[in-house]
Amino acid sequence: MRETDAGPGASDPARPAAAIVLAAGEGTRMRSALPKVLHEIGGATLLGHAVAAVAALRPVHLVVVVGHGRERVGAEIAALGERLGHDVVPAVQHEQLGTGHAVRCGLDALPSDLTGPVLVTYGDVPLLESGTLTALLDEHVAAGAAVTLLSGEPADPTGYGRVVRDGVGDVVGVVEHRDATAEQRAVREVNSGVYAFDAAFLAAGLAELKDHNSQGELYLTDLVGAAVAAGRSVGGVRCPDAWQVEGVNDRIQLAEVRAELNRRLLRRWMLAGVTVVDPASTWVDVSVRLGTDVVLHPSTQLHGATTVDDGAQVGPDTTLTDCRIGANARVSRTHGGGADIGPDADVGPFAYLRPGARLGARGKIGTFVEVKNADIGAGSKVPHLTYVGDATIGEQSNIGASSVFVNYDGVRKHRTVVGSHVRTGSDTMFIAPLHVGDGAYTGAGTVLRHDVPAGALAVSGGPQRTIEGWVEKNRPGTPAAQAAGRHRSAGSGSPDSDDRGDERGGRDR
Ligand code: UD1
Ligand code: MG
Repeated sequence: MRETDAGPGASDPARPAAAIVLAAGEGTRMRSALPKVLHEIGGATLLGHAVAAVAALRPVHLVVVVGHGRERVGAEIAALGERLGHDVVPAVQHEQLGTGHAVRCGLDALPSDLTGPVLVTYGDVPLLESGTLTALLDEHVAAGAAVTLLSGEPADPTGYGRVVRDGVGDVVGVVEHRDATAEQRAVREVNSGVYAFDAAFLAAGLAELKDHNSQGELYLTDLVGAAVAAGRSVGGVRCPDAWQVEGVNDRIQLAEVRAELNRRLLRRWMLAGVTVVDPASTWVDVSVRLGTDVVLHPSTQLHGATTVDDGAQVGPDTTLTDCRIGANARVSRTHGGGADIGPDADVGPFAYLRPGARLGARGKIGTFVEVKNADIGAGSKVPHLTYVGDATIGEQSNIGASSVFVNYDGVRKHRTVVGSHVRTGSDTMFIAPLHVGDGAYTGAGTVLRHDVPAGALAVSGGPQRTIEGWVEKNRPGTPAAQAAGRHRSAGSGSPDSDDRGDERGGRDR
């Protein structure tokens, strides 16, 4: 560490004075209206992954160079700054004149007297880990190098800049694929595009760059040769993990890095005590948190801020976004967003959980049940074919099958409050605003338009009318009438029975 490096952060080798993330390129091969770096994998944009990796090193300044689609990329930069709790400054590169020019634009956004190490990375390299950056930075600082590059050995080095080393293995330059000789192209070690620079060397070197190459661009890589020519020390750190330096140029590579990221996340969770029954069909975002002895069944997708506590089982065929699943809960064949499921609760199969759905401990949201903005208390059950919207249900209550919390009057939403130990019959319509007191009952088919006091039984609808022979008389010739006729011929009974308004069946089931 040099005493002269007095800038903030320069006293700590693991803390860069600045990090510059290049993200101005067009990404033509994505064939997308969306800027390349805004495509997502694992619940974050490519840029989000790249920026998170450098932000973990707490650089004093963090700059993203934007160009193509800079308005949308700029909005993402602002969002990332919020999420990471780190200032992220956009710098505009109006014309893409090469990587050297891009870094110059990044430096322009920084104090001119910047000293200490500066990291340069790409916004389209999402699997790079902060540990790798730390190793690069430590090596760079320890060697007092002007520049240290991170190199890799991809299966196919075509298109990459090759790292040129001398007889003793020191890095002496980088030559771009299109400018390389056949002998240089045979080199398998490539420049990843990730570097640590000494700030003063970087600023001076960029000012001297020339566009004397096949693309007429300012190549950042020329600074490697320039450092060697100036007698400065140049370092090269090999990254044995080829995925970490893999960039995304098209949607095939996007799918490949997405799958690799997922494999890595699942491996990490399995090592931490999560059972993943079928890793090939299970997808988790980087932001998901899982407890020990969680079991993820096949075709489970967990997104956003979803957390699953110890011992809970999720899936099969379940997609959850921003959900909290309590310890030992079971959620199967469910689509959920913004729901909070208590411990030991049971959800599905075939449940739809919408934002604000909350289920207490040991509760149940069963089959073909949709819940939105509703608190269902501990031990309460909504087992079958029901919509619960804008409601509060107390503890140990049971909502009968095929019920609807009728929350919308065509203009406004209203809330229903159901007490504890309530038993409602099948096909109860809760017409909100409504209050059903503790321990109340309702009969099957009840349309609740008025509050039900605690302990009361509410029934509605008139007595059942049964009109004998109605079908044969009014629907002659139909299969139903024919069936009724056959039944009558086999026994007794007349199609001409009077409309007797039979009141049998007026009971509540
Ligand atoms: C660059 C390197 C090459 C390395 C490769 C690794 C140079 C000259 N070559 O080549 O040695 O093997 O990366 O992937 O640096 N960008 C800008 N503004 C620009 C140009 C590029 O922001 O004017 C950004 C791009 O968005 C991209 C990154 O810089 O994220 C790399 O640019 P790209 O054109 O892909 O460089 P390569 O030719 O692949
Ligand atoms: Mg490239």
